[in-house]
Amino acid sequence: MTSILSLSSVLLALKLCSGEWCYEGQSRETKCEGPSEWKNLFPKCGGLNQSPINIITSKVEHDPNLTGLIFDGHEDVFNTTVENHGQSAHFTLPQSVRLRGGGLSATYKAVQFHLHWGQDGGQGSEHSVDGKRYPMELHIVHIKEKYNNLSVALNDSTGVGALGFFFEVSSEKNKKLDRIIEALGKVRHEGNSSELEDFRLADIVPQANTLSYYRYSGSLTTPDCDQSVVWTVFHQTLPISKNQLTSMYKQLLFRTEKPMIGIFRPVQKLNGRVVYTSVKSHILCVLPNLITLFLCLFCVFGQQKCFH
Ligand SMILES: *[C@@H]1O[C@H](CO)[C@@H](O)[C@H](O)[C@H]1NC(C)=O
Ligand SMILES: *[C@@H]1O[C@H](CO)[C@@H](O)[C@H](O)[C@H]1NC(C)=O
Ligand SMILES: *[C@@H]1O[C@H](CO)[C@@H](O)[C@H](O)[C@H]1NC(C)=O
Ligand SMILES: *[C@@H]1O[C@H](CO)[C@@H](O)[C@H](O)[C@H]1NC(C)=O
Ligand SMILES: *[C@@H]1O[C@H](CO)[C@@H](O)[C@H](O)[C@H]1NC(C)=O
Ligand SMILES: [Zn+2]
Repeated sequence: MTSILSLSSVLLALKLCSGEWCYEGQSRETKCEGPSEWKNLFPKCGGLNQSPINIITSKVEHDPNLTGLIFDGHEDVFNTTVENHGQSAHFTLPQSVRLRGGGLSATYKAVQFHLHWGQDGGQGSEHSVDGKRYPMELHIVHIKEKYNNLSVALNDSTGVGALGFFFEVSSEKNKKLDRIIEALGKVRHEGNSSELEDFRLADIVPQANTLSYYRYSGSLTTPDCDQSVVWTVFHQTLPISKNQLTSMYKQLLFRTEKPMIGIFRPVQKLNGRVVYTSVKSHILCVLPNLITLFLCLFCVFGQQKCFH
């Protein structure tokens, strides 16, 4: 009898201690596997081409193949369903939303979008640029047109096309985000879903022809961490006010009923991967420095002349 009891308590403990992945902050409060342990449960998370990454701007390479991206269906009005999946909330997207151009090898169709955030307006983006993390990051997930669903696309090293937009705190509120925030308020608990009517992606995402971007090969940033993602991370940021940011994350709860905060994976090693950029950013950075250098030289030599 006692042996059966202890066996079942061991099994229960095993069930509680493993099998559940979670974010860093959660792993301190709940028995679950934080990001550094994901690879124990999901071997792909220990791969060499993982996401997110820190983008080092002095090391990015300009790739002339990275021409303008083309967004189709961003002006279309549709109804989207938002659902709390326990670790984040996804907004469904219709297949009429497409992504092509921009050096991509195929046309991709949209599946869903979601957000990653931190807490109290602190760092919450997944990718970072020169070590700088932003308070929030939007991910729009697409799969190659020819695939039926995400699970099939994950079997292809370029099967998924993901877009990443950073948010930056602005003094004025971004009115276009209010409906997203309101919709998130209706899906507080895991499994809750709600309809957001008459939505357009163009309401939150700028036109493609105004955007420049980084490109690299990576993975899903949640288990199973499949290395099937062509990442496009935009240079341009989207605005959000401090108040909006606060209401964004205060509304949702994890599976564990704790506040859904700190939903981002730490940056992963590059392991020799190159990050490409669609613009020759160097010219813009070097030019002011050259002017400064000439001014300094002019001052130095000018002064020497005066003193002689
Ligand atoms: C650009 O595309 C061409 C043709 O596909 C390829 O040979 C070349 O390596 C690409 N350039 C870069 C920088 O990836
Ligand atoms: C969105 O949902 C509303 C209410 O269910 C419906 O009347 C409308 O036709 C739907 N819009 C689209 C584009 O499907
Ligand atoms: C995805 O599509 C494949 C091929 O069409 C199908 O066999 C599979 O059952 C689908 N998976 C899901 C989760 O819908
Ligand atoms: C994954 O790709 C391999 C090789 O192309 C193929 O044999 C296999 O059926 C694919 N699996 C799925 C689930 O699509
Ligand atoms: C949300 O989920 C909770 C917990 O499962 C449930 O009790 C509640 O009824 C759901 N609310 C809605 C509006 O579906
Ligand atoms: Zn994401």
